[in-house]
Order: sequence, then C-alpha cells, then structure tokens
Amino acid sequence: MQNKLNEIKEKVLPAIESAKTLADLDAVRVGVVGKNGSLTGLMKELGGLSVEEKKTFGAILNTVKTEIMTAISDKKQALETAELNDRLASESVDVTLPVRPTHQGRIHPITQATEEALAIFAQMGFELAEGPDIEDDWHNFEALNMPKNHPARQMQATFFFPNKNLLRTQTSGVQIRTMENKQPPIRIVCPGRTYRRDYDATHTPMFHQIEGLVIDEKTNLANLKSVLFEFFKLFFETENVKLRFRTSYFPFTEPSYEIDLGGAMANNIGKEWLEMGGCGMVDPRVLKNCGIDPEKYQGFAFGVGLDRLAMMKYGIPDLRPMFEADMKWIKHYGFVPQDIPSMVNGLSMNGGKKCD
Ligand code: DAH
Repeated sequence: MQNKLNEIKEKVLPAIESAKTLADLDAVRVGVVGKNGSLTGLMKELGGLSVEEKKTFGAILNTVKTEIMTAISDKKQALETAELNDRLASESVDVTLPVRPTHQGRIHPITQATEEALAIFAQMGFELAEGPDIEDDWHNFEALNMPKNHPARQMQATFFFPNKNLLRTQTSGVQIRTMENKQPPIRIVCPGRTYRRDYDATHTPMFHQIEGLVIDEKTNLANLKSVLFEFFKLFFETENVKLRFRTSYFPFTEPSYEIDLGGAMANNIGKEWLEMGGCGMVDPRVLKNCGIDPEKYQGFAFGVGLDRLAMMKYGIPDLRPMFEADMKWIKHYGFVPQDIPSMVNGLSMNGGKKCD
C-alpha cells in the first residue's frame, strides 16, 4: 500500500507541476481523485484491511491526498493568475490614443427653433398644447369663423382626404381644441406641422407654425404686442428688434394684424420688414363657438412661422433643403444634441452660432 502511495505521489506531483493549462490540471485531478482515480482506488482497498492497518494507512492516505489536493489548488491559482496576466497584457488599452470618430446626429434647425421658442414661452407662463395633423373641418375652419362658403378658405390651399378630413392648414385649430376642453384663464402655445399646396423658395407643402392663445378677463392688444416683442427679443438674443403690427384680416380675430419684424437681427436677409405671421384679438364668435362667454372673457392669439424664425436666426437662405434630409446640409446647419436650449444656460450655444 505504502509503495503504491509513493508511486502515485511520484507520478502525480510532477504531473501537477508540469500542467500547462487548467484543462491539463483537471485531467490530472480526475486521474487521482476522480471516480476511477488512482487514490480513489486505494481508498476502496482500505475496506479489506484489518482495523489496525486501516488506521495507519487511512491516516497516510489522507495526508497524501491533502498534499496532492493542496498542490492542485496551488497550481490552479498559479495558472489562473498567469492567464489573467496574459489577458491584461494582450488586452491593454492605450488611453492616450485619440478617440475614434463617431457618427453624431444633429438637431434640425426647426427642432432647435421650436425648443428655443418653447423655452421662452414656458418662462412667460404658457402651457404646451397639441393637436392632430389630420384635422376635421370644424376645428380647422368652421369654429374659427370660416363657414363653408367663406372666401378666406380659398386663401389656404388645402389637402383634403376623401372623407372630408384635411391636413391642417394652420395650428389655429388647437385654439378651438383647447377652449372646448378648458375654461379661462388660458395661456397656451402650440408648435406643429401645417400643410398647404404650395412650393417655391419660401413655401413648402409642409411647414411649421407656433400658435399662441391667451384668454382671461382682462387681456388687451398691448399685452399681445408686449408678449410678441419680448418673445422676438429673447429668441433673436438681441435688443435690436423692431416689431410692427400691420392691419390685416383673419376671420377668427378682430382686430387682426400681420406681424412684421425689422431691425438688424442676426441674419436679416436685407429687407426692411419681414412678415412673420398673424395675430389679433380673438373674435367673440370664436369664443362662443367653444362655449366661452364673450361678455366675461376676451383674449388674443397669434400664429408665427417657425421655419422662417429658424431661417432668419440661423442664416438659412432657402426653405426647401430643410426637408430634403441631406446629410451635408444637416451637418452644416444642425445643432449638437447636448446643447439643450434653456433660459438659464442660454438658448443656443455661442449666441446662435453653431458649434462643430
Ligand atoms: N392661422 C393664420 C395663418 O396660418 C395665422 C394666424 C393669424 C394665427 C392670426 C392666429 C391669429 O392665431 O390670431 O395664416
């Protein structure tokens, strides 16, 4: 028995020592203490010995087994450490290398302009309102004081669906949707897509507006003008803004005005005055259409072209490429996503200059 044990030791210990991989080592372990291992075989033989011999050889056997198992576990640790060191060496990262170029998306100038406008109006206390792009006749026309045969309908070349629904020609319908669901005081802005059958350098079939509506017991034209004046100064990030109200006509406001902007705004394209949208005091009939008492409440509304705001602020000469999904264009005019417009950190990084 003693001899056999010595033989096993002499064979196994060098085998453990020379194991090159964890798999080698495990094969050695199985060969010794596995089900049919050499030591396991000797353990079984113990059964046939006398009590005295069992005691002696049992103890020796255990010592040898412990010795072998310790050797295996030491070797295992050594192999694992070596393996880890190898990996650390081969997978090392050179932190001094320049970063890989990444494809970074850009924020579209219209999204940027919208976010900037919302940051300003939010600070003034306006809530955000939304309505559907596919509108019905009531919200886009009828409730806005444009009955079926009203000539003003022709001013807006409309895309109709066969079921008489339409792509909204203006965000003004959201005024109606808001007033139908809420009693004054109301203070909302609604940015969104609008659609008309038009196409040239300054018109596209899809464009963007931002609508504003304020209804309360005491609201007047001076409030309207100061809200818009403040808005434009904040949006263009300059005090050098001239605002002019030009008498006009909209069926849903009385009186109605065209909003003209002048002044040396960042990218004023050279004209003295630029038309930005329309506004006025909400016609009492519109209030009545929405179940609001015109004897008690009155208010003002405005609608401004968002695309034009973006074009002016960021010096974009043509409207059409805005919607062509051209990577070169968006790289040039787009904004860094991390640059989120806010009244605290600034609307646009570097006062409206793009950074790349
Ligand atoms: N909806 C008008 C348009 O698209 C613009 C407009 C004019 C909106 C007067 C208003 C307003 O809210 O009061 O031409």
